[in-house]
Amino acid sequence: MAKQKSNLPTRPIASTFQIVEAYKAIRTNLLFALATANSKVVIISSAEPNAGKSTAASNLAITMAQTGARVLLIDADMRKPSQHKVFRLKKANGLSMILSGLMTYEECVCREVAKGLDLITCGTLPPNPSELLGSEAMGNFLSEMQEHYDYIFVDTPPLCVVSDALVLSDKAAGIVLVCRQRQTTYEELQHAVDNVKDVQGNLLGAVITDMKENGRTYGKYDRYKYYKSYDYSYTSATVDGK
Ligand SMILES: Nc1ncnc2c1ncn2[C@@H]1O[C@H](COP(=O)(O)OP(=O)(O)O)[C@@H](O)[C@H]1O
Ligand SMILES: [Mg+2]
Repeated sequence: MAKQKSNLPTRPIASTFQIVEAYKAIRTNLLFALATANSKVVIISSAEPNAGKSTAASNLAITMAQTGARVLLIDADMRKPSQHKVFRLKKANGLSMILSGLMTYEECVCREVAKGLDLITCGTLPPNPSELLGSEAMGNFLSEMQEHYDYIFVDTPPLCVVSDALVLSDKAAGIVLVCRQRQTTYEELQHAVDNVKDVQGNLLGAVITDMKENGRTYGKYDRYKYYKSYDYSYTSATVDGK
């Protein structure tokens, strides 16, 4: 019987060096973009779900903190939060509690989840995420946080699905759009860009994740360090073009 050809690439992963360098390149571009901005708040979003924005947000926040800057990562995806999982924490005491006045920042902040990086998890899932994010309380909270931190990264839900990221755009330096190779379509990306323009938001740039060059894929961060992650079922699906 003929041996079935495997879909898996023979050299499955990019080196840790390549991953680190990719994030450093994004960091450099962000530093230039933010140098002239009034705000140091960066919203990470995408057109569609599952683009890799939470992964990119945590990696970017860690990479930025490696410059010696004080960095805060806020999980503002109060629909499908994930930063508490990335850093293996409980999510209950977080942003929703602060915005609804039930808890303070000091009670919620998770300090030094990585060197120089603090985290605010999403908090108990509220019934009204868009209203909370668009509220005066959120504006005040971000202003206060900018007195404590050099850079603030805000992980948000996909902006073609819900308006959460858009209602935050006037409180931030701008939005970074995360796109996933072989997943995000041009139409979805154009729709996302139009949405940002409609609210006079500032598009800081786009990050393409899950890039494959010669059958290799970039990995992702786990907790404190870059590591060579390779999810076979995930990757074989994308290799199939699904
Ligand atoms: N660069 C990448 N390469 C391979 N898998 C990735 C990459 N970025 C994210 N993933 C995986 O894709 C899934 C969705 O990523 P996530 O960051 O949670 O996306 P989002 O926040 O846009 O929904 C997760 O299983 C994550 O581990
Ligand atoms: Mg996410």
